[in-house]
Amino acid sequence: MRLLMVCLGNICRSPLAEGIMREKIKENGLDWEVDSAGTSSYHIGEKPDPRSIETGDLNGIDIRGQRARQFKRIDFDLFDKIYVMDNSNYSDIASMTDNLKHLEKVKLILEEGYPGENREVPDPYWNNRFSDVFQMLDHSCEQIVLKN
Ligand code: 4NP
Repeated sequence: MRLLMVCLGNICRSPLAEGIMREKIKENGLDWEVDSAGTSSYHIGEKPDPRSIETGDLNGIDIRGQRARQFKRIDFDLFDKIYVMDNSNYSDIASMTDNLKHLEKVKLILEEGYPGENREVPDPYWNNRFSDVFQMLDHSCEQIVLKN
């Protein structure tokens, strides 16, 4: 399985989601791949936000090697599941295709941990809730691993 984690900047939420999932893939000996991307071009080539790096460190996950990239149309073909952080990411991605097979791959990541709640990962870039974000993502990534 190939998973892509998507947020707006690819410097706060999706790098943590990628790092958490990479760790779970390793722990569980799974033959899965994970990557992350942003819908925007704002931070292409940048390292994760220092607050995300610190939050990863506090939880034993090193994300400092990641570099931000922008989501591209080809990602619809390269990945089996595209996990977005919020509804705005969802509409940005959905507006890039009219192929139903592509759209079926796109899902709010918190639907995995908190099904039916239409819950979004709040953007910590402005509100600083990095440790809440980590817990929500960790819970949802755990459920993704358990159900597959
Ligand atoms: P992310 O957070 O989408 O979780 O990476 C943000 C990063 C940068 C900006 C907004 C959100 N920005 O406006 O530059």
